[in-house]
Amino acid sequence: MLPILALDVYGTLIDTQGVTVALEQHLPSSERAAEFARRWRDKQLEYSFRRSLMGAYVPFKDCIYQALQFTDQALQTSLSVHDHAQLMAVYAQLPAFPDVPSALNQLQAAGIRCVAFSNGTLEAVTGLLYHAGLDAYMQDIISVDEIKRFKPDPAVYIHLSRRLNARAEQIWLVSSNPFDVIGAAQTGLRSVWVRRDAEVPFDPWDIAPDTCVTDLQALAAHIVS
Ligand code: 2OP
Repeated sequence: MLPILALDVYGTLIDTQGVTVALEQHLPSSERAAEFARRWRDKQLEYSFRRSLMGAYVPFKDCIYQALQFTDQALQTSLSVHDHAQLMAVYAQLPAFPDVPSALNQLQAAGIRCVAFSNGTLEAVTGLLYHAGLDAYMQDIISVDEIKRFKPDPAVYIHLSRRLNARAEQIWLVSSNPFDVIGAAQTGLRSVWVRRDAEVPFDPWDIAPDTCVTDLQALAAHIVS
């Protein structure tokens, strides 16, 4: 039975550090820009976790925007409202990681069903995939916005299984985010960790991914070979 791949978007298909180039126009060094991008990303996720726990859902772009405001204050970078708007526009059009288009092409040619599965809303993910040239590879976009919860709430993975109308063991959640991999595995889905950074360890919980790859090219080779 062929797997169905549910691909995480931010950080797995799309490079959130891609905003660093735009940040370099505002900050004194490329190191500072990279640090800003990392802290901005971490804060977005923290906000999504907290909002899910509190039952205080907002669209993920609001988490992104509020995390931008926080990071600006925390790092005392004094960006203007105009700078914030410009950075948000860049974030809506981030690039794909270089390995992604060819890997998706190979998977599509092999008849593997690929869907995007994201914290981002349908509108946000549609725009990201279009600008990154990935839209033609996705058979569907499944957003947590459909149930107003964020990853890794078990409800989002149960919703994914329902939307795909497939058995849990046929669905492979593919993500660079360990919390996403663990969340999916806990609800019985198969899980693939895309370890994009060799220095980042997996969370030392009792749950391990079924498969670990360095990038999507390696995943395509694993599935198609
Ligand atoms: C996504 O859902 C977790 O941000 C990641 O796209």
